[in-house]
Parts: sequence; C-alpha cells; structure tokens
Amino acid sequence: MSCCYVLDLRLTPQGVPVSTYAYSVLREMGPGESLRIWSPEDPTLLMAQLQNHMRHTLVWHAVTDGQGYLVTLHTRGPDEALTLTDTLRRDHDDMDARLVRALSLVNGGHWREAVSEVTAFDHALRAHILIENDLLAPLAVRDAGEPTALMRREHDDILIQLDAIQEVCASPEESCADLDTWLGLLAASLNKHEFREETLLFGAWERAASIGRGTLLNEVRQRLSSRAP
Ligand SMILES: [Fe+2]
Ligand SMILES: [Fe+2]
Repeated sequence: MSCCYVLDLRLTPQGVPVSTYAYSVLREMGPGESLRIWSPEDPTLLMAQLQNHMRHTLVWHAVTDGQGYLVTLHTRGPDEALTLTDTLRRDHDDMDARLVRALSLVNGGHWREAVSEVTAFDHALRAHILIENDLLAPLAVRDAGEPTALMRREHDDILIQLDAIQEVCASPEESCADLDTWLGLLAASLNKHEFREETLLFGAWERAASIGRGTLLNEVRQRLSSRAP
C-alpha cells in the first residue's frame, strides 16, 4: 500500500459501521506501512477504536480544513518501539481481555480454569498498580496532582476488590456462585479507572518519559514482562 492511498470514509457502504470499514483496510497493513483517511467527522473516537483493534501500533495525526479531517497514519515498524502510554494501554487491553475470559469461564461452569485465569489476572493487575503507584505517580504530582490522588484511591479500592475475589476463589466451589458478580463489579470499576488514567494522566506520564531518554519506559517494560504468570 503506498503512502498516498486515501481511504475516504464518506464511501463507507450503507449499514456498515465506519470503524468496521476502516479496520477492514487497516488489518491488511504490514509494519511500517502508511495510509491516509478522509473523515467528515472528528476522528478521535474512531482512532481510539482502531488503536484497540490494532493493539496500539498506530502512529497518527489529523488536520482539518473545516470541511473534514485528513488522518495520516502508519503502523509501527519492527524497530519502532511502543511509547510508554501505548505500552500501558496495551496492558489495560490485555487485562480487560483476561477478565472477560475469566467471566465467561465462570459462566460456563469451568470453575478450575476460571480460578486459574483469575489468579493470572490478579498478578497482572497488582503488578500494574505497583508500577503506576511507585514509578509513575511521583512523576505527575506537580503536573496532575488531583488525578494522581484519585488514581491512588481507586487503586486502593481495586485492591480491596481483588482481595475479596481471592477469598471467593479460595472457597469451596459450591459456595462461590457469586464470583461472576464480583468479577462484573471489578470489570465496571476497572473500565472507569482505565479511562480516567488514559485521559487525565497519560499525557503527564508521556512527558515525563520523554525527558528520561527511555529509562522509564525500559523499567516499565521490564517490570511488566517479569510479572508472575
Ligand atoms: Fe491504575
Ligand atoms: Fe493503568
């Protein structure tokens, strides 16, 4: 695909969601390939959906002429590392997916597999919270004091929910009928929490990471990859 190819979203077939139409083209792109998208609407929401589908590998910017928006994007090449915040967004997505899998295992009556999935999710989320509390929160106190304090309070609440879920998982199977309720409540809390982080704090964290010449990003990556399964 050449760098000058323009996907015009005004040509989206009737009845097809715009994000589905755009993704059908993007998913064929290899690493390092470029594309332009013409959108009559502000593309911010669409690009967030596409980033989710593409595991945050897109680098994009948009300009407007008042009639519409021209998005220029490329997929990251093999030597082009994810940014700090795209690494964290991807981790959010991975944890969300793990929680959905655990819920469906519980609902399908696969108790042992569900407990194992919940345990892996628990380890991943606790390590993620530690990274945010220890490494990232101190960097944003001056830049984003109030959202940082809110994030820490939400982390405390999430950890309480995780403790409760671990207790349920340790109970005999027949007394754990409400595990799906606990997981559903946590999924709702986590969803709001991740959205607040991504909108209120990621900008400050990315600025801090850009000053450190990759040191912070490397430490976050190293801690995420060395988590217990
Ligand atoms: Fe968090
Ligand atoms: Fe997070």
